[in-house]
Amino acid sequence: MLARTPLSAALKSAARFAVSRPGQARRMTTQAAESTAKPSWTNTMLTAGGMATVGTALGMYYLESHTAHANMADEGLHPPAYPWAHRGLFDSFDHASVRRGYQVYKEVCSSCHSMDRIAFRNLVNVTHTLDEAKALAEEYEFKDGPDEHGEMFMRPGKLSDYLPGPYPNEEAARAANAGAYPPDLSLMGKARHGGADYIYALLTGYHDPPAGVEIRDGLNYNPYFPGGAIAMARVLFDDLVEYEDGTPATTSQMAKDVTNFLAWTAEPELDERKRTGAKALILFGTLFALSLYLKRLKFASLKTRKIVYRPPPKSH
Ligand code: HEC
Repeated sequence: MLARTPLSAALKSAARFAVSRPGQARRMTTQAAESTAKPSWTNTMLTAGGMATVGTALGMYYLESHTAHANMADEGLHPPAYPWAHRGLFDSFDHASVRRGYQVYKEVCSSCHSMDRIAFRNLVNVTHTLDEAKALAEEYEFKDGPDEHGEMFMRPGKLSDYLPGPYPNEEAARAANAGAYPPDLSLMGKARHGGADYIYALLTGYHDPPAGVEIRDGLNYNPYFPGGAIAMARVLFDDLVEYEDGTPATTSQMAKDVTNFLAWTAEPELDERKRTGAKALILFGTLFALSLYLKRLKFASLKTRKIVYRPPPKSH
């Protein structure tokens, strides 16, 4: 790219000049003319190195994306890749879906799963307005204190409170779920191989065990769960919740929405991070182009000049 510059043009015209005019100028410029005509050794090496790197990278990408899991019983069925709204480099979350997902979490999942790392204030301007988030927080009672008598007391929730969990501790959670522990869902979007694809596939993947597969009492068959037997039963059924925006609450719609919600809780900074990244790309891209231009401008007089040595006339 840089070869097509005034510099190489100047060298070419110098070469032409050298051919047309015998004498000193010719001797000085033949070397330059040759170097434009033949690719240098360094150039050849760099090109070969670059091609090797790109080839290796493509090969590794191909292998990585075409790896099938060898042991489905141990690792679970590999989830399909779904076109999540936030997957692209410059894409943000589908916030309407995240808002519906919060509703699904609240009405379905929160009876077993906690969400320790999300406070009501995090919902503001992401899924809910300030007033809506305050109203949501006030639906719950939180222990606070001590007051002036040293007593703890209950008060309505505030924006700074974290979403309340269903159980006071892990033992209580296990006792209520036949020994299985429903994990905290805050970081679930990143905690499992496959992320959002896995959660969606898990929630919609329940069906009867195939012939020959025995599932213990109290467990359920789900090919996407490592081992195939999961303690959580199927929880999503058509029309389980009623969406306020009128979206039909099919099983797959609810699974998609709650998965989007879990992707957001795992990476609440994603939108801001991508926005900052885009800004940085634009800024540094412009500065880089500007610096290239300036460098060429400043060097133009140096790179296109010709130094000619005229030996002093021989004195007799
Ligand atoms: C009746 C209680 C109950 C409800 C309701 C429930 N779960 Fe679970 N969930 C569990 C239990 C118990 C486990 C642990 C399963 C195991 O380890 O076998 C679990 C595990 C999970 C896992 C982790 C799977 C893994 O790979 O370890 C995810 C993800 C999950 N639940 C998502 C949800 C979502 C999303 C909802 C709401 C739509 C939900 N759950 C509703 C009881 C529940």
